[in-house]
Amino acid sequence: MSKQQKTFDLTQLKGKIAIVTGAGNNGIGWGLCKHAAGHLGMHVVAMDLHKNLVDSAQARLRSAYPEVKVLGIECDVTKPDQLAAALISIETYFSDLEIGAVFANAGIFFHKTILKSSIEDWSATLNVNVIGVINTIKAFLPKMQLSKNDSIFCTTASVGGLVRGDGGTASYQASKHAVVSLTESLSFEIASRSPQIRVHVLCPCIVESALLRNSKTNAKEQSGEIAAKDIEPSSIETNDFAMTTESHAQQVFDLIAANKFYIITDNVRPYVEHDYPFEALAIVSERMENMLDLTLDNSGAFPKKSGDVKTATLTGAMFREAQKRNPQSSK
Ligand SMILES: NC(=O)c1ccc[n+]([C@@H]2O[C@H](COP(=O)([O-])OP(=O)(O)OC[C@H]3O[C@@H](n4cnc5c(N)ncnc54)[C@H](O)[C@@H]3O)[C@@H](O)[C@H]2O)c1
Repeated sequence: MSKQQKTFDLTQLKGKIAIVTGAGNNGIGWGLCKHAAGHLGMHVVAMDLHKNLVDSAQARLRSAYPEVKVLGIECDVTKPDQLAAALISIETYFSDLEIGAVFANAGIFFHKTILKSSIEDWSATLNVNVIGVINTIKAFLPKMQLSKNDSIFCTTASVGGLVRGDGGTASYQASKHAVVSLTESLSFEIASRSPQIRVHVLCPCIVESALLRNSKTNAKEQSGEIAAKDIEPSSIETNDFAMTTESHAQQVFDLIAANKFYIITDNVRPYVEHDYPFEALAIVSERMENMLDLTLDNSGAFPKKSGDVKTATLTGAMFREAQKRNPQSSK
């Protein structure tokens, strides 16, 4: 059995650095920072687009976890020079401490059909979600390869990167399918030369965050409609079924410890307190069955009754229960 197939002892991450992109808006990245510092004793680098976001993350993490070192870094993952500068800041601030984990987590999402998405929407989505992940790999992986000690490199895709393309989410899903594929390639590329680096792709289902709102805010800042200095960390949005970022981070590290490559974080107990899972694996299987049959089941595009949602993805127990509780929500 190669090292890549063995379980991972998380205690070896204590005292090492966790680098998390897209950590400044109280979403998935923020949960990973808190878990790394609070449960694993890791030093933390919280990176995000705007100074206010990283200053706030840095201050809150330093206050909550005084026993570890914390650094907030303003960094646009679409800009390789900013990631190179981030690595220099990390080496300077943490001196000879080693990188234990990198989470290439920054992402954006616009909910529009292909025809209604502008080319700018597509470019922005692919640039952040795909090129941003590649830039993050290129910035940090060579440094990690210099160490013989075990470490983690985890990209964030989505369950949307594993299932059939759905209505209104084409640019997002195309980008996330690319992240799944490039992370599989990364695993193959370094498996024999750098087996000490465990590669994982995170595919969340429904986690509390303000992803859509943050994506719109960042687009407005880029078009000059609002100033970066006015952007504050987001309050998160929740629903009855979403995982908290804390429970989500727990599941991520549980699956890393179990050495799962596809970290599919379904909304299941004990990580949520309800019995309505997203049913990610069943929906992924449907895509596989379609492919083996050389067909595409697009029957979801023809709702059975008025009010039903046109979807191939939002079909599991969680979504059925949400529809039952609030039939108006999808109209
Ligand atoms: N929340 C969910 O249910 C869910 C489900 C599947 C996948 N995801 C993925 O999880 C990741 C985190 O999303 P989240 O839901 O926590 O939302 P979030 O908005 O809190 O996190 C995304 C972060 O990325 C940052 N960002 C955007 N562009 C950037 C850039 N160019 N450089 C640096 N940072 C940038 C944003 O400012 C934001 O803080 C994303 O990749 C998202 O696609 C989330």
